[in-house]
Amino acid sequence: MSSRFCHCSFLHLLIGLFIFGSTSAISAHENEDPTIKTMEAFSGYPIHESNSLISDFVSSLSVETQTLQNQIDELSTFSDSPAPSVTRILYSEKDVLARRYIKNLMGLAGLSVREDAVGNIFGRWIGDEPELPPVATGSHIDAIPYSGKYDGVIGVLGAIEAINVLKRSGFKPKRSLEVIMFTSEEPTRFGISCLGSRLLAGIETLANNLKSTVDGQNISFLDAARSAGYANDQDDLSSVFLKKGSYSAFIELHIEQGPILEEEGISIGVVTAIAAPASITVDFEGNGGHAGAALMPTRNDAGLAAAELALAVEKHVLESGSIDTVGTVGILELHPGAINSIPSRSHLEIDTRDIDEKRRNTVIEKTHQSATTIANKRRVKLSEFKIINQDPPALSDKLIIEAAEAASKELNLTYKKMISRAYHDSLFMARISPMGMIFIPCYKGYSHKPEEFSSREDITNGVKVLALALAKLSLN
Ligand code: GLV
Ligand code: MN
Ligand code: MN
Repeated sequence: MSSRFCHCSFLHLLIGLFIFGSTSAISAHENEDPTIKTMEAFSGYPIHESNSLISDFVSSLSVETQTLQNQIDELSTFSDSPAPSVTRILYSEKDVLARRYIKNLMGLAGLSVREDAVGNIFGRWIGDEPELPPVATGSHIDAIPYSGKYDGVIGVLGAIEAINVLKRSGFKPKRSLEVIMFTSEEPTRFGISCLGSRLLAGIETLANNLKSTVDGQNISFLDAARSAGYANDQDDLSSVFLKKGSYSAFIELHIEQGPILEEEGISIGVVTAIAAPASITVDFEGNGGHAGAALMPTRNDAGLAAAELALAVEKHVLESGSIDTVGTVGILELHPGAINSIPSRSHLEIDTRDIDEKRRNTVIEKTHQSATTIANKRRVKLSEFKIINQDPPALSDKLIIEAAEAASKELNLTYKKMISRAYHDSLFMARISPMGMIFIPCYKGYSHKPEEFSSREDITNGVKVLALALAKLSLN
């Protein structure tokens, strides 16, 4: 038997063991398969001494919870707002320091690190068959103003720890395993969510638009990227694009950001789909004027138009009749912003989402109609109604769902299948790779605020499920 043949039969057997669970493991052992010795040599499992490969391997997975918590705490200090809040905006000084911290941890975990032109950071553990598409995991570390320290961070620091868990257990991956820290999942600075993962997914319009995109201070995207050490010598960001099939699987660990797991006392959420988000910006213009002298019938108040549109968004969302339709006016700015001046300009940013894309699009259409009607009625100009993004939902891949479920079962953790109402980089990774997500509970479902919290036990569970799922997927 050639060694190549040995490897193949071993791999198939091991994949079977992992995907189909411990029954196969026991029967394989009982049959005294001669490839078992090779299996041990290849993967690091002490299986010939064990009655159950899976239970031995699973019990060998140990998370260094205190170290991980220290890292989470330390990363949270790279913030532009005081603790317990975290504010870490793309390409800011604190973001650059936090990136350095992540690259250092990747290096300490023995990963080979690379960065692309917008600062997506990749740390790869080379597998035994490096020519195969790797399995990837990861999330983001940017944080919206005055938010918490777990959103995204768990999926980056937790992923590096999952690699360490597998290394300590003696596991050797067949497919390479890659941790990705995505650039700017949050839209704070340039108004574009999941900027890094959208580019990885090859969205050309975004790559083109970014050449002329500026932030609120009129700093261009490219200048900001360069100040952080990226996009040097290139305006063309198409180098960031990845081909479809670059990864055999992508799986993201994240806090739930909703209350379901905690309320139901369930340890793990296995995500089956990610809701479809859209963002819209709206501008109204009126004449402004003196808050005392201009009489009410003569006014065309851009601020009141914005207020009326904000209420219309709520109305249209509620008209859907589904609890899954949501809408938020998270930004409402008035110009000139003086108590004794009638607003002459108003600017709204509207976020609306649904697991049903058609229903979400209906909210957008109705909101547009309302904006036009309100502008006419109040004699203001609707100077902009711009759909920034109108993304379709993404479905998780069956094999990745199964890997996360099997991992939860083998770890004796309760789990439930659920949808993600928040968006994630996974939404875009799904365009180039089979995708899945693992959720852990968070306190009262709080997120995007300083009270965001996940217990050490829940984080440890999530990291173990991720490690085991990565192991399974790497052998696939
Ligand atoms: C991600 O941060 C989201 O807003 O869903
Ligand atoms: Mn977030
Ligand atoms: Mn997030």
